[in-house]
Amino acid sequence: MCGIIGVTGASEPLAVLLDALALLEYRGYDSAGVVLVDDGALWRKRDAVRGHSLDTLRAAAAEAPATATAGIGHTRWATHGAAVEHNAHPHFDCTGTVAIAHNGIIENYQELWDKLQAEGHTRSSETDSEVVAHMLERELATGAGLAESLRRCVGELRGDFALAAVCTSEPDVIAAARRTSPLILGRVDGIGLVASDIAALLGTTRTLFQLADDEIAEVRPGSISVVGLDGLARELEPLEVGWDIVAARRDGYDDFMSKEIHEQPRALRDTLMGRIHADGTTELEELSFSAADLEEIDRVVLVGCGSAYYACLSGRIALEHWAKMPAEVEIASEFRYRDAVLGEHTLVVAVSQSGETVDTFHALREARRRGARTLALTNVVDSLLAREADGVLYTRAGPEIGVASTKSHATQIAMLQLFALHLATKRGTLKGEESREISTGLLSLGGLVAGVIGQLDRYLAVARRLADVQDVYFLGRSVGYGVALEGALKLKELAYVRAEAYPAGELKHGPIALIDERAVVVAIANRGHLWEKVMANIAEVKARGATVVALCTEGDEATAAVADHLLEIPVVAELLSPAVAIVPLQALAYGVARERGNDVDRPRNLAKVVTVE
Ligand code: G6P
Repeated sequence: MCGIIGVTGASEPLAVLLDALALLEYRGYDSAGVVLVDDGALWRKRDAVRGHSLDTLRAAAAEAPATATAGIGHTRWATHGAAVEHNAHPHFDCTGTVAIAHNGIIENYQELWDKLQAEGHTRSSETDSEVVAHMLERELATGAGLAESLRRCVGELRGDFALAAVCTSEPDVIAAARRTSPLILGRVDGIGLVASDIAALLGTTRTLFQLADDEIAEVRPGSISVVGLDGLARELEPLEVGWDIVAARRDGYDDFMSKEIHEQPRALRDTLMGRIHADGTTELEELSFSAADLEEIDRVVLVGCGSAYYACLSGRIALEHWAKMPAEVEIASEFRYRDAVLGEHTLVVAVSQSGETVDTFHALREARRRGARTLALTNVVDSLLAREADGVLYTRAGPEIGVASTKSHATQIAMLQLFALHLATKRGTLKGEESREISTGLLSLGGLVAGVIGQLDRYLAVARRLADVQDVYFLGRSVGYGVALEGALKLKELAYVRAEAYPAGELKHGPIALIDERAVVVAIANRGHLWEKVMANIAEVKARGATVVALCTEGDEATAAVADHLLEIPVVAELLSPAVAIVPLQALAYGVARERGNDVDRPRNLAKVVTVE
């Protein structure tokens, strides 16, 4: 979703802003803008042509003032107000001498706006964000500096936000503040930086600092100072990063999604590396829960959004089956508003690739408030979620740029399964031989997925034949149901095809009424203890004329005999199958989307990081 970048002290601030905005593109945006402070005036360029706004900004660089001292830039994903130029950030105050960029939502903006309007301010957008520019105008008029003005404003704001501001009266200052939404600070060679995402700064500096909730930073070319809402100075808190910018490039693939599909074997191996051994032992030292803590847990609640939620479904089955641990799964946005009954023996595991998804973050915070222990399972070191939780487990998928989750999802599943195995060994619910078998299975996932990736062309051939599909129904049981849900999500997200997933056992309770010769049914029919049941469901939809795509085990002639198209995967233990079985479905969605000419890395209306509710 939205991205913020700010720079002061650079000889070419616009170039820094544009490069950083390009690195933020992956989050998803529908408009973008930059503002530069130059010789007592602000120069601004904004554009709202989806996917091309940065080109427009680059093209305008020739008109930009060459002597600018500082600037801020923003990519916007519309929430309040349509994706049109006048709603794009940065926003000005009435005088055009203050500019702000904002991520998140100012919940009380209407109330604040009513007051400002009564004081004579006029607005030029429909956004919630613009209100902050006018509030700053009011505070600056009292003679306060920019950072002090922002501090006063933050005290009045409700909601989640990251803010960066510049003004002409302090031409080399960027003031920044945050609450819940991330914002980091950077410094290098007399240049000061502000960004909402580490990715935006990795090409520039590795000297990074955190900004905590309700802290306000004054960033100057040679110094950064931070105060709390109380106005008292705070220490700068260094931020560690592990990603390499090179890892975030396309490396010759047509798109990031294709690159990331191919990276899954490595991502799985990296995620499990050093944490599991062939003898069935596990090491999750970073978990920061003692053996005694783990013993006290009597229930696990897994929460997440989108693909992360679907990964949780596989996690639950492993927790119940291996660790005999009562486990529930809930969509984070529902969980956070429920009157969930949690106790000190409940462990709430929040799963989020980005560690920034606002609903997942608040679900975890709510769980803490209600006395549960919390664990973050995320791909981003030091992310909001990681910092909020009692314990953290990192997937090691590396940066994922494509909006549709691929390697993140696969590694979330593997990490949850590893956690389930870890709990099982600590609780003694598995025999030595069983845990050895599971650990060997987990360790072989990377190789199995590499084998599946070797067959991508065959899956893409199926996708070509289905390029014109209209309605697709995914059916699965047990772990296959999570795979079906994730497969349907991929097809919706990328190919814009109506795709629904059902537990196969529910077919007769409604969905079957939709099945006729126009329907395409993708059945998750790899061999497992419910295979015969899925076969019966296949027979039911075939009898009504549906085209059946069977995701099945290699060489399974019985399934091949009844299906119209096959997506074969190698033999894999049933509970470990989701991370393998999802790959052909990623390829199916990718292939159909490409056949339709869709942008697979940046599907319409979607954002990689959902930072608003
Ligand atoms: C967005 C993305 C999905 C992702 C979901 C949760 O909807 O488009 O791919 O699964 O957010 O993201 P998270 O970062 O919390 O895993």
